[in-house]
Amino acid sequence: MRLAILLLLLASLLRAQEVFLVQPYLQLGDAPKAAAVDRLDLLWQTEDRDAAWRVEVKAGGRWKPLPPAFRRLDAPPLPPHRIYRATLKDLPPGARVPYRVKRDGAVVFEAQAQVRKPDAHRMVVFGDAADGSREQAALAQAVAGAHPDAVLLVGDLVYGMGLASEYRQRFFPIYNGGSRPLMAQVPFLGLPGNHDVPFRRAPDAAAYFAYWSLPLNGPALEPGGPNAAPVVAGVHDAMVAAAGPAFPRMASYSFDYGRVHWTVLDSNVYTDWTSPVLRAWLEADLKAAKAATWRIVALHHPLFQSSRSHMDDQWMRPISPVLEKYGVDLVLAGHVHNYQRTAPLRFTPTKVGPRGRPVEGTFTVDEAFDGKTITRAKGVVHIVTGAGGAELYDRWQTDVRASWQPWTRAFVSDRHSFTVLDVDGRELRLRQLDAEGRELDALTLTK
Ligand SMILES: [Fe+2]
Repeated sequence: MRLAILLLLLASLLRAQEVFLVQPYLQLGDAPKAAAVDRLDLLWQTEDRDAAWRVEVKAGGRWKPLPPAFRRLDAPPLPPHRIYRATLKDLPPGARVPYRVKRDGAVVFEAQAQVRKPDAHRMVVFGDAADGSREQAALAQAVAGAHPDAVLLVGDLVYGMGLASEYRQRFFPIYNGGSRPLMAQVPFLGLPGNHDVPFRRAPDAAAYFAYWSLPLNGPALEPGGPNAAPVVAGVHDAMVAAAGPAFPRMASYSFDYGRVHWTVLDSNVYTDWTSPVLRAWLEADLKAAKAATWRIVALHHPLFQSSRSHMDDQWMRPISPVLEKYGVDLVLAGHVHNYQRTAPLRFTPTKVGPRGRPVEGTFTVDEAFDGKTITRAKGVVHIVTGAGGAELYDRWQTDVRASWQPWTRAFVSDRHSFTVLDVDGRELRLRQLDAEGRELDALTLTK
């Protein structure tokens, strides 16, 4: 009996592999706000061949059909392939909704989609992920074992240049592989790090814009305009075409999950968050989120961190007063390949020089907050969670507290790890776990 089940599982796995180049995975899609009935996007990739595709969602005991559409990506070295997309609509908030994908009338994939929850939920966050290492794979398994409701990757999604060909090798097989792929069950969200942008000589670079489907409510950027990811005509045309409206706009966005408002920022060097247009968007977004219990900002380049590596990548610090003004609780970043946490702090910049030079200013640190007995923070807690798979930075600093900035409260760089956020009403619990499930840090915030 067991053997029969095993053979059946193996057969369905093999079938999925020959039908898909990348099997179906869930995305939030262009749905920033939760609604009385919610939606999710389902994407998958196939060879460039015609077939009758259909997605069906189970509602009220019946299968409801949804038509998919596709875009082609013809950017070497991968052969031309199709990126299919269907929007799963009318989903009841919080439910696990069965769905299936049919090709030429036959069911070729089945799973259940976790719809955005109205309140208590678990979000997993990490960055600097898919470099093909053993540590990346081990951590991915631990992430699945933590049973998140959604996952957010804080940039440097795929090494070394965010190429479509690298996604095929290092990203999808790890996060969307096997018989129970996590990406088929819960939505993944992402943002571009410095390894996810258009590299000048790689036509399949910046695959982020073609392969992810996220809200398009960010600043209205123009291709080739200021603050947009810089593409090269004649090199990146195929990628831009495959991205459609996602390029260049999908670089920054915001969304609500439960009682949390997330503001997701592209912090790459070509963006200037002190420019009037970006700053106005950020202020308007945070202002409109007043009703949310929690406000969290996610971006790639941290504002405050203690690692010797990337110490001078401080160009996002000038947004600190805006975050404080609108009551942002947490900032989650990557870029630096380790885990770090600051005390709640406020920062007023006094000297902003060119990129890559320190941004000086004055700090006000909440020394009383400990995240255990005193859980109301006066200021913003900054987290670096960049230990998601790529090689760790400055391991020696883990045990050398004298090397930390005075406001750093936790620093773990001797192992890979990910962040688990459990948000329930007016309580937010943060835990940093390693691949074996060991708790490296924990804190509670309350309102
Ligand atoms: Fe980075």
